Amino acid sequence: MDRPLKTSGPSLLNAIIIGVKKCGTRALLEFLKLNPKIKAPGPEVHFFDKNYDLGYDWYRQQMPFTSPGQITLEKSPAYFVGKLVPERVHKMNPRIKLIVVVRNPITRAISDFTQAVTRKRRHIGSTRFEDLATCPTNGTRRASCSKGVSHNWNALKIGIYHRFLRKWLEYFPRKQFLFIDGERLITDPATEIRKAEKFLGLTPTIKSTNFVKDPVKGFPCVKRFDATIHCLGKSKGRTHPKVMPDVIHRLEEFYQPENERFFELIGQRFKWF
Ligand code: A3P
Repeated sequence: MDRPLKTSGPSLLNAIIIGVKKCGTRALLEFLKLNPKIKAPGPEVHFFDKNYDLGYDWYRQQMPFTSPGQITLEKSPAYFVGKLVPERVHKMNPRIKLIVVVRNPITRAISDFTQAVTRKRRHIGSTRFEDLATCPTNGTRRASCSKGVSHNWNALKIGIYHRFLRKWLEYFPRKQFLFIDGERLITDPATEIRKAEKFLGLTPTIKSTNFVKDPVKGFPCVKRFDATIHCLGKSKGRTHPKVMPDVIHRLEEFYQPENERFFELIGQRFKWF
C-alpha cells in the first residue's frame, strides 16, 4: 500500500469551496467527503483572507495527507467576499477549480441573522430581522435604502452574489467555477453532489442511498458506506424566525434583478422564488 504523502506544495490544492457563507458549504464538503478520493482539512483554514501572512508552508501544513490520485479540497466561505482573495488564489494556482454554493439570498440572510442572534452578537441584541432588513418607504431617502430594503446590511449585501463574483471573474474563466444550488442540496443532495464529483474529475460514487432525512431537523444526513449515519452539528439546520410576508415580498422585489444579473453572469438559472 502507498504510504500517504503530505500534499507536497500549495499548488497541489485541487479545488476550493469559496462560499457562500450560510448557503450549505459545510453540508457540501461533508457530503463530498463520502468519496474516498476527496480529502479536506477539518476546520476552515482562512489562508487567503486571515492567515495569508503565515505563508505557503503554513498553508501546506494545514492540509491532510493524500495518496496519489486523491484530491485536496478546502472550504472557507469567507473567501467569496474577500477583496484580496481572488488575486491571491490565482497567484497560487491559476488553474484551481472553484466551487460556489448559492441559495435563495433571503433564506441566506435569515440564516446569517439567526447565527448572529445565536452567537448573541451585541449589535443585534433583541432586534428583529424585519427591523434590520427594511427602511422607511415614506419619502425619507437614505443612501443605504433601496426599494424599502436596507441593502447595506451585511446579511443582505452578501446575497447580491454577482457583485462579489465579478471580482473572481477578473482572474478566473467561468469554466473553472461550479455553482451548486444550496436549496437543491437540501432537497436532492445526490444530484448536486454528482455534479461536483464530475466537475472534480472523479468517478461518481455517491448515490441517493447515501442520504437519509434527519427526522427532527428535516435536513439530509449522510449514510456512509459502512452504514453509519452522520448529521451535521447543532450549528447547522437551525430553526429560523418567521419573517413577516410583506418583508419577504419586499426582499424578493429587491433581489429579483440582482439574481437575474447573477444568472446571466454564470449562464445558469436557479428557481428560488
Ligand atoms: P441554517 O442553520 O441557518 O438552517 P454553511 O455551512 O455554509 O454555514 O450553511 C449552513 C446552512 O446549510 C444551514 O443554515 C442549512 O440551512 C444548510 N444546510 C444544507 N444542508 C444541510 C444539512 N444537511 N444539514 C444541516 N444544514 C444544512
